[in-house]
Amino acid sequence: MGKKIFSGVQPTGNLHLGNYLGAIKNFVKLNNDDENDCVFCVVDLHAITIKQDPKELRNNIRETVATFLACGINPEKSIIFNQSTVPAHSEATWLLSCVARMGWLNRMTQFKEKAGKDKEKASIGLYSYPILMAADILLYDATHVPVGEDQKQHIELSRDIAQKFNNDYGVEDFLKVPEPLIQKEFSRIMSLKDGTKKMSKSEISDLSRINLTDNKDSIINKIKKAKTDPLPLPASLNELNERPEAKNLLGMYSSLTNSNLENTVNEFVGKNFSEFKEKLSQVLVEEINPISQEIKKLINDKEFLDKILLDGHKKANKIASNKVKKMQEIVGF
Ligand code: TYM
Repeated sequence: MGKKIFSGVQPTGNLHLGNYLGAIKNFVKLNNDDENDCVFCVVDLHAITIKQDPKELRNNIRETVATFLACGINPEKSIIFNQSTVPAHSEATWLLSCVARMGWLNRMTQFKEKAGKDKEKASIGLYSYPILMAADILLYDATHVPVGEDQKQHIELSRDIAQKFNNDYGVEDFLKVPEPLIQKEFSRIMSLKDGTKKMSKSEISDLSRINLTDNKDSIINKIKKAKTDPLPLPASLNELNERPEAKNLLGMYSSLTNSNLENTVNEFVGKNFSEFKEKLSQVLVEEINPISQEIKKLINDKEFLDKILLDGHKKANKIASNKVKKMQEIVGF
């Protein structure tokens, strides 16, 4: 049976290889299966939990759509829209905020990381962010949510919120309890500068990540400068656990060549990093260069991108407003 897929990406600047290998590549695969119904959301409401420049945000929303298309998401076979154009997301968030418990939110590790030491200064939005995420998913009766490893805890919270709403109001199975879809390997791509830290848009150094808009020279340069260790490449998977940078780079190569880590380890056993990095650059350029060129082409066609968002808005709004109306009736409005 087909799956109902929902996932979201924040429009906060350049998307990177982590977003691509951890999530978007999987969106494309799921979208190519005609049995599935897919909704891909540009989560602009989530983006403003951290202050954004309004003009940049507007551009970043379009750039995220351009990236979806450039990576191979088919707008004819999926709904692509931005969250703020569908009021049901905000409305459902309030209803679900009254069901979710403080104790649950206090356990969210992403809030702790993003808020940093001075939690008092974090926005309320950053704290309640996972409830908005639950609203996103539950409004569309999504059965499966493809994400990278870092979002797993948020999907588990969405499951808890759905179950509590159903129990509290005695409406068994009304909100569908979603499953996370997280790839077994390569669901967490690490920084090129530190193999123990996640590749992220908020990292200051651009050398820490491959952006999906990077050109060939920039990709080659970043891989050349990527952190390694002094040993030759290992003979076994076990040795990799002590060598985070080697593990990350070999993982990238495996994911890009649709291989598994064990095969990649066997391919490069005993080789030095410079030889391996050349191969890695080559497969990265082959995969990312066409995407980056397509993004640059699409980004100039604002009308086209806005039309995709408008079409998506109409379809999404219909589904979500219908669901939130039922939620409002259930709570007694
Ligand atoms: P965001 O915008 O931070 O990231 C988008 C997707 O990319 C994945 N990802 C990674 N995967 C592997 N390695 C990395 N280094 C890496 N960095 C990012 C993320 O796991 C994500 O799948 N809260 C979400 C967006 C969201 C959402 C939703 C997702 C809002 N509503 C509903 C699913 C369902 C976020 O900030 O993702």
